[in-house]
Amino acid sequence: MISQEMKILGLIGYPLKHSISFILHNFAFKQLKIPAIYLNIPIPLENIYKALEGLKYLPFYGLNVTIPYKELVTSYVDEISPLAQKVKAVNTITIKEGKWYGDNTDVPGFIKTLEDLELSKDVSYLVLGAGGAGRAIGFSLAEYGAQKIYITNRTKEKGENLIKDLKYYYPHLKLEFIPWEEKENFSEDSFVIINTTSLGLDGKTSPFKIDKFSKNKICFVYDIIYNPYKTPLIIQAENLKIPWKNGLDMLIYQGIFAWKNWFGIMPPFDLLKKEGEKYLCDF
Ligand code: ATR
Repeated sequence: MISQEMKILGLIGYPLKHSISFILHNFAFKQLKIPAIYLNIPIPLENIYKALEGLKYLPFYGLNVTIPYKELVTSYVDEISPLAQKVKAVNTITIKEGKWYGDNTDVPGFIKTLEDLELSKDVSYLVLGAGGAGRAIGFSLAEYGAQKIYITNRTKEKGENLIKDLKYYYPHLKLEFIPWEEKENFSEDSFVIINTTSLGLDGKTSPFKIDKFSKNKICFVYDIIYNPYKTPLIIQAENLKIPWKNGLDMLIYQGIFAWKNWFGIMPPFDLLKKEGEKYLCDF
């Protein structure tokens, strides 16, 4: 039921066609009887600066930020949490008396999934991408206790900047940048691949050719995309019998932690997962 008292929340990003955040949040509002509504707010790059200025004058209660604006909005918030400052990426904004408070719930959300999976801390981690999401994953892995983190990114400078920032906060870690063109020559004994790029959202493109590696080399494939439920990268992994995970659990956990910021409560994970799978699984 729409009412005068409704709190308005939404997701800023572009494109948003793949996003199911609005389905999960609105479902949780209904289940937990929170008078709120969550909207998709797709904003093309050419309008982002004007749109952000305008949004500051609208009565939003909270916002999420996704691809490709997680880094850009860090300079638009009035206050930033120490974590978001460290990661240099904001995915959750809480608005109080017109002031925007930026936080990063991708990091605790992703760490929660690593803990659930009990992934080894002793293998190497090869992170594909160094945008806002890639930065969150890099910092999550370091916090989780991974010892060896390799980053590859199409734009060298962004990858090297992430390595530099991680080195500053975690000087004991083994960190290395791998040029994008050379990533398939990666020769560590046993490694986990994590895709944080947008390659795969189209259901056609894979960011990494895993076919030439044996199951013994690649011990796990994690794609933080959740729609499609199985990206081409995950399909390759499945064909090679490599264990895999998609981004649905991370999406749910980051959303649950965003709720904690906005409402001080957290909706149950299992309830949201069941709902999310309804929209994503066609098998
Ligand atoms: P987000 O905030 O969600 O991480 P982003 O900052 O735009 O979004 O990052 C997108 C990631 O996908 C980046 O690592 C980007 O590489 P660049 O830093 O070189 O832009 C990567 N990406 C997007 N399109 C790509 C493509 N066609 N080939 C390789 N990498 C791509």
